[in-house]
Amino acid sequence: VAAAKGPYRHFMHKEIHEQPRAVTDTLRGRVDFERGRVTLEEVPLSPEAARRISRIVIVACGTSYYAGLVGKFYFESLARIPTEVDYGSEFRYRDPVLDADTVVLAISQSGETVDTLAAMERAREGSARLWSIVNVIGSQAHRMADACILMHAGPEIGVASSKAFTASIVDELLLALRLAELRGTLSPEEIRTHVRELARLPDLLGRVLDREAEVVEVARAFYRYEDFLYLGRGLLYPIALEGALKLKELSYIHAEGYPAGEMKHGPIALIDERMPTVALALQDPVTYEKMLSQMEQVRARRGQVIALITDGDRAASARADAVLSVPHAPRWLQPAVAVVPLQLLAYHIAVLRGCDVDQPRNLAKSVTVE
Ligand code: G6P
Repeated sequence: VAAAKGPYRHFMHKEIHEQPRAVTDTLRGRVDFERGRVTLEEVPLSPEAARRISRIVIVACGTSYYAGLVGKFYFESLARIPTEVDYGSEFRYRDPVLDADTVVLAISQSGETVDTLAAMERAREGSARLWSIVNVIGSQAHRMADACILMHAGPEIGVASSKAFTASIVDELLLALRLAELRGTLSPEEIRTHVRELARLPDLLGRVLDREAEVVEVARAFYRYEDFLYLGRGLLYPIALEGALKLKELSYIHAEGYPAGEMKHGPIALIDERMPTVALALQDPVTYEKMLSQMEQVRARRGQVIALITDGDRAASARADAVLSVPHAPRWLQPAVAVVPLQLLAYHIAVLRGCDVDQPRNLAKSVTVE
C-alpha cells in the first residue's frame, strides 16, 4: 500500500495531484484536436435523435451530484437542452415525469451507489433513455446504461472524491459539445474554440497544483475555526458546495456552501469573526462584480474572507484577508480549476487537525446499502 502512494502520505493527496493526468486520459481518443471536434463514439446519436431530446435529468449522490450541477450549465448553455439535477435518493421515491425524449444521465464514480442505481431503474420503468458517466469499468451503472461515458480517472482510493469530480465535469463538457454539434446550437468555429480551450485544461490544473504552498499557508492560518461559509455564484456555486463538502468530510468542520446571492436571506445572520467565508471570486462577465460587493458585506460584519481569485486581481485581493489564486481560465473550465485549491485546503486543514484523511469516520467510499 505504501508503494502505491508513491511520495504522498495519503491517497487523497496523490489523487488530487493526479488530476491533470486524469483529465488528459478522459480527453484521449474523444477529441480530434486537429480538426477541433468532439467525437465521443460512446453515445451513438443521429442529428435527428439528438434534436428530439427534450430534457436531461441528471441523477447522482454526493460529489457526483455537484458535478451534475455543473453539467446543467453545459447542457443548457451549449446544447440548449433543459436540464434538472436530482439526488438519487429523492428521484427514486418520487413520481417523475419521463418519456422517450428524456435522457436520464446517472453520474457515479463507483457505479455502485444504491440510490443512483435505483434512480436508473426508475428511469428504465419510465421509458427514458438511460446514459451514465462512470469511473469503475464493469460496474452496475456502467452495464445498466444504454450508453456510458467512462471517466478514465483511474482507481480512486481516498473515500472523499477528488479526481472523479474533475473527470465527470470533463465528460459532461464533452457530451454537451457533442450534443451542441449534432443539434446545431453551436457553430463549428465555436466548437473549435471550446476544444482548443479544453486542450489546455491539464496544463491549467498543473499550474494550480504548483501553488500548493499558498494553500498550506492559508490552512495554517485557519485550521482552528469550527464553522465556514463557502459562497459562489453561477458555475462556481456547485464548487462552493463541493468545497464545503470536502471540508466537512475530511476535517469534521461544519461548513455550508451557499449561492452568494442568497446570503442575505439567511447565512448573513451567522457572520462574525468566528466564521470565515471562502468567497469564489474568479473574474467572469456575469457575477464577478456582485461577488466583490458580497465580500465587502461579509467584512462589514467582521467576517474574515478567504478569496479564490484570478491572478493579479487587486480589486478582489483588496477585499480579502487571505487569498488563493489561480491562473486565468476560460469560463467553462473555471469549475475544474477552482475546485483544486478547495480540495487542497480541505486536505491540509484535515492534516493539521490530525484527521484520518483517507478514511474519514462514518463515511464509505461506495454506499451500496440504503
Ligand atoms: C459516497 C462517497 C462520496 C461520493 C458519493 C457518491 O458518499 O464517500 O465521495 O461522492 O458516495 O458516490 P459515487 O460512487 O456514486 O460517485
